[in-house]
Amino acid sequence: MDRIKIVGGSRLEGVIPISGAKNAALPLMIASLLTSDRLTLKNVPNLADVALLARILRNHGVDHSIEGKRAGPALHLGETFHFTARDIVDTTAPYEMVSRMRASFWVLGPLIARMGQARVSLPGGCAIGTRPVDLHLQGLKALGADIEIDAGYVVAKAPKGLRGGRITFPKVSVGATHNVLLAAALAKGETVIENAAREPEVGDVAACLVKMGALIEGVGTSTLRIQGRDRLEGATHTVLPDRIETGTFAFAVAATGGNVVLEGTRRDLLDTALAVLEKTGAQVIDVPDGIRVSRSGDVIEPVSVETQPFPGFPTDLQAQLMALVTRAKGTSVIRETIFENRFMHVQELARLGADIQLNGDRASIRGVARLRGAPVMATDLRASVSLVIAALMAEGETTVNRVYHLDRGFERLEEKLSRCGAQIERISA
Ligand code: EPU
Repeated sequence: MDRIKIVGGSRLEGVIPISGAKNAALPLMIASLLTSDRLTLKNVPNLADVALLARILRNHGVDHSIEGKRAGPALHLGETFHFTARDIVDTTAPYEMVSRMRASFWVLGPLIARMGQARVSLPGGCAIGTRPVDLHLQGLKALGADIEIDAGYVVAKAPKGLRGGRITFPKVSVGATHNVLLAAALAKGETVIENAAREPEVGDVAACLVKMGALIEGVGTSTLRIQGRDRLEGATHTVLPDRIETGTFAFAVAATGGNVVLEGTRRDLLDTALAVLEKTGAQVIDVPDGIRVSRSGDVIEPVSVETQPFPGFPTDLQAQLMALVTRAKGTSVIRETIFENRFMHVQELARLGADIQLNGDRASIRGVARLRGAPVMATDLRASVSLVIAALMAEGETTVNRVYHLDRGFERLEEKLSRCGAQIERISA
């Protein structure tokens, strides 16, 4: 397994191109199941999760090709993918696949909508929480799907197709919103989703479905109104910038000090997170085609934050913020309200010298004067990258093990950072 070696202490200076959003690319790829025409997606990030989902979709009968693959030093690898699901050859998504990538569970809605049936494995537990799928099932039942659980699989039927329905989610779920939104685009009549997730990635999927022929109102609000179509067409869509990658690099700059332009991204995708970053003492200004993040002073101010669904502070940036405030002048409090077990980075940050007390869903982080490098590893993507941020601040050398987590969600992380002056390199197994 590859490792990443980091020698801390360098300021970050330069330009980092931001990739297309993983969490939009995945449901957009799944949208290709809804049409026999070609769906072209531009700015798809080159990530392990994207490659895995392409393989999973191939099992269902989705052909894909990548246009003009470029070799060489270009950092911004955003690729153009073509997906064509002329015939769905298999409506089963097996355990081996769904357990490796939870988002592949979202094929459920599109498969029932197009084929009138689907058999999709329950994803099982995960490193950050129990992550049930009850809301997905509740939503698809509201569209007329008949659903049973059999031997670890969700077996869903709607022989006459799905029909529009009304669903009020008792809790905000990104995945359940995607699943029902995708299905509703091909259901008969109108679907109303109340308490829908407002994450920008949901808006991006809705925008693509509109290009494919669905009528959708309320995008960006918590009430989505979808007029389904008998048939959806092909379309070309550009994946929006990755707000979590943007925030991660912004937090890294605040951690090391320095001055970096994050190119190809937008402040409005992460207003709340950037406002928190500014409170810690960093500056964020808009520049053409991106934002500039800098921190000149030595002091990192402590903050109190709780994670919330969009437009609140994202759970996917919680670990990165925690890494930053390990060296704040005072005590920060971070409350994780989305996932019940998303503090796996705490013990690893402690190995670098951080002083963190956990109490239920609350972490109190007392800033320390210095961190010291050590070997660390993490159990999920965002936790892993928080260790990279801590390592960039630490004295001496840190080795981050289990790099495959990072490869799932960060495109060329070490190259993007080393071009800005970080001492970071991948050590191949
Ligand atoms: N939940 C339920 N029942 C359900 C669905 C969700 O109780 O049927 C709960 C979850 O257990 C959790 C909360 O609702 O406590 C929110 O979960 P959500 O469904 O919103 O999460 P998700 O769709 O599984 C996506 C992202 C995550 C991100 C969350 C929250 C993708 C591929 N994944 O997951 O991203 O943390 O939304 O914003 O979009 C990551 O990229 O590292 C990542 C974990």
